[in-house]
Amino acid sequence: MKIESLTITNYRNYDKLYLNFSNNLNIIYGLNGTGKTNLIEAIYLLALTKSFRTNHDESLIKKGKEKTIVEGEFRKKNDLSRYKIEMSKMGKKVAINDNKIEKLSDYVSKINIILFSPSDVAVIMNAPSDRRKMLNIEISSLHKEYLTILANYNRILKQRNFYLRNLYINGNGSKEYLQILTKKLIEYGLTINNYRQEFCAKVNKFITDIYMQIFGEGNLTLKYVSTYNQKTVDELIKMYDKYYEKELANGKTLFGIHHDDLVFKLDGNNLKEWGSEGQRKNSIISFKLAELNVIYSLKGFYPILILDDLFSELDRIKINNILQMLNNNIQTFITTTEIDGLNEFIIKTSKKYHIENGTIKEEV
Ligand SMILES: Nc1ncnc2c1ncn2[C@@H]1O[C@H](COP(=O)(O)OP(=O)(O)OP(=O)(O)O)[C@@H](O)[C@H]1O
Ligand SMILES: [Mg+2]
Repeated sequence: MKIESLTITNYRNYDKLYLNFSNNLNIIYGLNGTGKTNLIEAIYLLALTKSFRTNHDESLIKKGKEKTIVEGEFRKKNDLSRYKIEMSKMGKKVAINDNKIEKLSDYVSKINIILFSPSDVAVIMNAPSDRRKMLNIEISSLHKEYLTILANYNRILKQRNFYLRNLYINGNGSKEYLQILTKKLIEYGLTINNYRQEFCAKVNKFITDIYMQIFGEGNLTLKYVSTYNQKTVDELIKMYDKYYEKELANGKTLFGIHHDDLVFKLDGNNLKEWGSEGQRKNSIISFKLAELNVIYSLKGFYPILILDDLFSELDRIKINNILQMLNNNIQTFITTTEIDGLNEFIIKTSKKYHIENGTIKEEV
């Protein structure tokens, strides 16, 4: 998957911009605050219809303007399609090849992007819900039906919690309906559990080698932790039965895939409790790079890779290791304030864009 061109109107600090990209490495450089992240954010927006930095769409519109338009030509194997997103105070509209798409869910997941942003590193330290969110985003980009199943699970979970509270208040209400909800919860939960386990197993096929290749030492693996792991429907029904009184007293569902976690382990130790800042950062980078291979193995093409501000996060040797490892078929965007110290061959073979506050010069 490649983005061949990008057209931006009134986006963040840009008025009007048209760029053609290299199929391989694109280096976007300029001083702090000049619009590097804004540019790659626009590409990300085209893929997911929202920013990775804010949920507040209006902040994407250039100050003082009514609306923003971002368009991109994307090539997937032999297909070249034009994606467009328009945002105003009234909301957003999306189109593919000038055909308006009514449902955003029919638009997203067509363009595959892997993004590394320095803020991703915090995910290892954050609450499990953040790691589940990351898993959900990644899996839904691979399996369109995943989000629907997740929404079904969450709906049943809400109903079940509500019913538990009801049972508690009404004393001896009917347990039968609760059993129906429990069975449904388990069915959806096991399906999601399967997707997540499978995804982690696929990432694990690549992540250990990638970490070793870039950083030279350490055995990195992912572990997906869930009470649903390797359980059958009947076993889970028994578990919920056992915890009935406790759930009743708490008025909520005490276990299920809404409590799952993703653990990053380096040499067998949980990085959340044990890892250094650098090890956590390296692990997230390796996770993103492993995903490239997971997507390739499932879809037969590589996603677009965006590495925002990676250079301030790593030393030059590691960066050169990463760039050398990237397959030639992966279109990559890198933003940086400094290009000094990079492998000369890599510099020569990449396309460079110099940004100075809202204007971009392509350098040959
Ligand atoms: N809606 C907007 N309208 C106009 N300008 C905006 C808008 N949103 C953000 N900006 C400007 O965009 C700039 C930030 O751009 P960006 O985050 O892309 O910088 P950067 O080049 O990535 O910097 P750094 O190297 O520090 O990461 C700021 O100067 C900010 O004022
Ligand atoms: Mg930035």
